[in-house]
Amino acid sequence: MRRIAAGNWKMNGTGAELGEIETLAARNTDSVEVVICPPATLLSRAADIAGPVLVGGQDCHAAESGAHTGDVSATMLKDAGASFVIVGHSERRADHGETDADIAAKAQAGLDAGLNVIICVGETLDEREAGRTLDVVGTQLAGSVPDSAASNTVVIAYEPVWAIGTGKVPSNDEIEEVHGHIRQLLTERFDTGAEMALLYGGSVKPSNAAEIFAVPHVNGALVGGASLKASDFGGIIDAL
Ligand code: G3P
Repeated sequence: MRRIAAGNWKMNGTGAELGEIETLAARNTDSVEVVICPPATLLSRAADIAGPVLVGGQDCHAAESGAHTGDVSATMLKDAGASFVIVGHSERRADHGETDADIAAKAQAGLDAGLNVIICVGETLDEREAGRTLDVVGTQLAGSVPDSAASNTVVIAYEPVWAIGTGKVPSNDEIEEVHGHIRQLLTERFDTGAEMALLYGGSVKPSNAAEIFAVPHVNGALVGGASLKASDFGGIIDAL
């Protein structure tokens, strides 16, 4: 089973922060895939200094090229040195109105470009309180994971929206329930579904990482705030 510690820097970081990647690059990452997804502006420079750390984009357009001002294609990410791309993050779903179909098309573009694709799913607080978590996550999974997905190319990240950047983390039982459900759906649909890596994301820190990684069907983390400093992210990598 793959084990992955992925950092999503979101819209944070300029050249001054590249030293954090240099620090991570000096670590032994033999048993874990360590991925940093900086802003697109830093991707190429990050890739140059990342050593064993892999770099990724935070989004891509579904088209390979064309009249899409401000967008970046998966082919461009690959060309800049990326080996991963995140698609379907809840901030993209909310801020840019991305639908499951949009995300499936972006994921397919990432796969076509030869990237590993991290596809995010997760419920809002209202959806959880209405008892709809498994339905919402199941629908997102069905709509945003392309049929061509396989365990060596696609990673699923479960990120409850209400846990992102809030310091709130679901209980281990809640994480296990959702990850178990995702595992079951993937296994039913894909030949390699039982081996597809499932990441948990939402307020992961060095202090709670080991407990989260002990939950069945948690194969790593997608980390926001705590990935910005190599010292914090290093603690999470160590826990994996
Ligand atoms: O993609 C990672 C993210 O949404 C989680 O953010 O800051 O809660 O770790 P954070």
